[in-house]
Amino acid sequence: MNDDSAFPTEVKFFSGEEIPLELHKVRVVQKLHLRPVEERHRAMEAAGYNTFLLHTRDLFLDMLTDSGTNAMSDQQIGAMMVADDAYAGSASFARMQDAIRDVLGMKYVLPVHQGRAAENVISKTFIKAGDVVPMNYHFTTTKAHIDINGGKVLEIYTDEALKIKSAHPFKGNLDLKKLEAVIAEYGPARIPYVRMEASTNLIGGQPFSMQNLRDVRAMTRQHGIMLVLDVSLVGENIWFIKQREPEFKNASIRDILLEFCSLSDLIYFSSRKVSSTRGGAIATNRQDLFNRMKDLVPLYEGFLTYGGMSVREIEAMAVGLRETIDDTIISQSPSFIKYLINDLDSSGLPVVTPAGGLGAHIDARGFLPHVPQTEYPAGALAAAFYIASGVRGMERGTISSVRDENGNDILADVELLRLAMPRRVFTLSQVKYVADRLKWLYANRELIGGLKFVDEPKVLRFFLGRLTATSDWPAKLVAKFRRDFGESL
Ligand code: F0G
Repeated sequence: MNDDSAFPTEVKFFSGEEIPLELHKVRVVQKLHLRPVEERHRAMEAAGYNTFLLHTRDLFLDMLTDSGTNAMSDQQIGAMMVADDAYAGSASFARMQDAIRDVLGMKYVLPVHQGRAAENVISKTFIKAGDVVPMNYHFTTTKAHIDINGGKVLEIYTDEALKIKSAHPFKGNLDLKKLEAVIAEYGPARIPYVRMEASTNLIGGQPFSMQNLRDVRAMTRQHGIMLVLDVSLVGENIWFIKQREPEFKNASIRDILLEFCSLSDLIYFSSRKVSSTRGGAIATNRQDLFNRMKDLVPLYEGFLTYGGMSVREIEAMAVGLRETIDDTIISQSPSFIKYLINDLDSSGLPVVTPAGGLGAHIDARGFLPHVPQTEYPAGALAAAFYIASGVRGMERGTISSVRDENGNDILADVELLRLAMPRRVFTLSQVKYVADRLKWLYANRELIGGLKFVDEPKVLRFFLGRLTATSDWPAKLVAKFRRDFGESL
């Protein structure tokens, strides 16, 4: 990696306009498809009103996720060309191990094919029936793996976490009083570990502070409980610590990241996010933990020096991890998200504030107060927004939840449309288009109705479930679009 970290990340404009500036140039491009609104309606219908089931040939901007879709750097692509193919003992793996040691400060590394594979290994190793796992908030795959191993997730977020409008800099903080109460209630023997998720995904990519992590560390250590960090989105969390936690204003990203990881027993990540590649890993400085987990890797993933990943990905991952400490890279996604959120917020649209990492989050209950939660407002908003714009977002609400033992939906705490901002993928005019179409949709929000399931998988239903509109509202939305935009796309 070049020594670029001295470059400014926030550039002032003479005009006074506050806009994010792309700190990279584009040298490989991919053609996009902006289909007419009628075709988008047909595509949404064919996809069962589930944006996961749309084809990229029908998308203009793909804001489904940042997972595996961040732009890779020229250094990463270059590194892929010199990868060392070997079933065992690959030099590529050694380079990745070195990167994890240098950047995340962890000595023992278990490679896995992606983040949820790490969750499988960790849950299988440490969770027994009746255990509870306290955490700042769950992620879908995390919860599924803990459940399947007989454990239970306890979410002990602060009162601020689920407020849509907030000025709190660290909504991802864990509530220490609740942690104390949970330890007193269940006892350390039933708590295999406490989990903290960086840039807490499902509450809007919200970070937690270093001080909160230090406090959680102190309490878990006092009770002999392991602390596990999900660092899939650590770059952005570290960026926010530097921006928002006064103690770290002048600290280097490298030092913040090393302290952050050192406050845990075990870290794991999805490389699809953190290093802008594919793959994942578990890392620790504790040999005892490494030894307890390691036999599961050849069983589920692959040999200990590739873990189900191609060596080319492993090389790119090593470079991507080193790039995680480059301010000009990790600041990009948060600065574009901040621009979009501030624009929508000042136009009166209901959005999650403050702007977080990963993506912009739109409050579907505020957007569609007339759609009951049992008719999935966040899913309906995702479908309506695709029809209105060709932009694909993701439902993060009750469709992403589960049913209780009586078959009733467990209503999600928050109903969000997530518009992910993969790193260095979209330009400012594309982000302006997103804001423009959202504003149009908000002006026409009363046209949008609900959704119902027609085909509902039992596990992680949001991925493959098919739904339909509860009325002919999509056709009415298309007709209004035509009236307002004429022949335009
Ligand atoms: N942990 C967090 C915080 C995540 O955001 C994800 C994935 C995982 C674990 C699982 O990793 O996908 O590599 O198996 N998040 C993606 C998303 C899917 O779109 O938010 P994975």
